[in-house]
Amino acid sequence: MTKFFTSSIGQKFFMSITGLFLMMFLVVHLTINSLLLFGDGSLFNIAANFMSSNIIMKVIEPILALGFILHILYASYITLKNRMARPQNYLVAGKTNVSWASKNMYILGGLIFIFLVIHLANFFWKVKFGTVAAISYDGGETELHDVYALVAGLFKGWWWYDVLYIIGAIFLFLHLTHGFWSAFQTIGWDNNKWMSRLKVIGYIYSIIIAGGFALIPLFFLIKYVV
Ligand code: HEM
Repeated sequence: MTKFFTSSIGQKFFMSITGLFLMMFLVVHLTINSLLLFGDGSLFNIAANFMSSNIIMKVIEPILALGFILHILYASYITLKNRMARPQNYLVAGKTNVSWASKNMYILGGLIFIFLVIHLANFFWKVKFGTVAAISYDGGETELHDVYALVAGLFKGWWWYDVLYIIGAIFLFLHLTHGFWSAFQTIGWDNNKWMSRLKVIGYIYSIIIAGGFALIPLFFLIKYVV
């Protein structure tokens, strides 16, 4: 088993599994966030508070953090190892038939990581350790974090954050278009018929996820800022 962890295929396998896990997280995260676009924010607040307080999410949160860490560590190790083993690849890279995104997965991942650090400082850190205003929808019986006010405040108050989140979504789109089918290929779904199908499904998935994440700051920008 230890041999598998340290072998090239084992490392790629774990990068794919953690990547697929993170892709599932993005679906859940976007579903909750899309509620920001409807009504007065109460739907989003109820869903966001449910997600951050229920026991299942408390268990999933450290697994998610570990998923991110392992994905980044495996990607860094594999990229470094490949660069040391095949430096001449970069001289002919321009002539090959692979997409720009697939040649720049590590750089795109690094840019998403920088976005993620800013993003966690914007919201996650403040909800967990800061003072977020309280709100109640049942006459004071239950108090919730007003996460809607936190998100809307940022997107209404600072237009460059809207732009940053849209740029983050573009990086995410590029990273996912390659990452999606590549992950399936690594875990063995690599016959010709399925590869072309997975590439199409990957594009659709990336457009929905990145488009959805970009739509939210765009909505606040158009409705309240410009
Ligand atoms: C419009 C875009 C986005 C909005 C409005 C948004 C909003 C939020 C909010 C409000 C939280 C804190 C939730 C809480 O603790 O109650 C959060 C957490 C988080 N976000 Fe985002 N997010 C966006 C995009 C993204 C993207 C693109 C990624 C990944 C690349 C991401 C990854 C995370 C992670 C890992 C957490 C911490 C885990 C969690 O609390 O569920 N977010 N986000």
